[in-house]
Amino acid sequence: MVRPADPAPVAVPRHYLMCRPAYFAVDYAINPWMDPAAGVDRDRAIRQWEGLRDLYRSLGHRVSEIAPIEGLPDMVFAANGALVVDGRVYGARFASAERTPEGPAYLDWFRQAGYAETREPKHVNEGEGDFITFDDVILAATGFRTEAAAHQEAERLLRRPVVTLQLVDPRFYHLDTALFALAGDRVAYYPGAFSEGSRRVLRSLYPDALLATEEDAAVLGLNAVCDGRNVVIAAEAVALADRLRGLGYTVHPVELDELRKAGGGAKCCTLELRHPRV
Ligand code: ARG
Repeated sequence: MVRPADPAPVAVPRHYLMCRPAYFAVDYAINPWMDPAAGVDRDRAIRQWEGLRDLYRSLGHRVSEIAPIEGLPDMVFAANGALVVDGRVYGARFASAERTPEGPAYLDWFRQAGYAETREPKHVNEGEGDFITFDDVILAATGFRTEAAAHQEAERLLRRPVVTLQLVDPRFYHLDTALFALAGDRVAYYPGAFSEGSRRVLRSLYPDALLATEEDAAVLGLNAVCDGRNVVIAAEAVALADRLRGLGYTVHPVELDELRKAGGGAKCCTLELRHPRV
């Protein structure tokens, strides 16, 4: 049973980092969505990405941009570039050789932007793709990309408890393809993406969670971004969108199917910059 969100969802302005897909391509395959033989329409990817960026701005959010680097086709997926909590930056260390140079590139951006505490990671982790931050806890995944040892590393640096979850379905290789944060400490997730033990953990932490279906998950509907009231979500996730409306959220469907050819959606393109609380 899902109770109506209570109190009414309220939007909180965010600061996001994004990377224009100027060099977007699918010329290697590191997840089951990627088919190098299928080809992509880069101009279309850019138009879809611009639509997402402009939507955030129209919702009152601040968007910063990191310059894309030629030869790094997945750099558009800014969520993987770092994890930022209270202004502290935990750098990414990618699991694949193809994406490895993105880690230092994102850390450089943070240093140049004046972030005082930036940490080069010891352990493999793919940034906010595998870490979802709440006020008093961070959910972190392992199984395909991020190592469990990175969860501890992040917990020490960011000084928030980290709960480890196990991903088991290769289509949902990052935590942000299977779960997203709603208002307050509410969540939506697809149970089938998680191990039996992790499902138990999620049930006890979030008894009121919105449980998504496989159909919702298979169009990357869980790769959504919520500011507390607005939910930016894959246009194809119609059933999930309807349920969110029923809970009082304002839903903004976005067409990002060109980027989905690389296995990414709205959330993947979006790294939240969480400044220190004042
Ligand atoms: N092709 C990219 C990869 O497999 C997609 C990353 C999507 N990002 C995300 N946060 N889920 O690494």
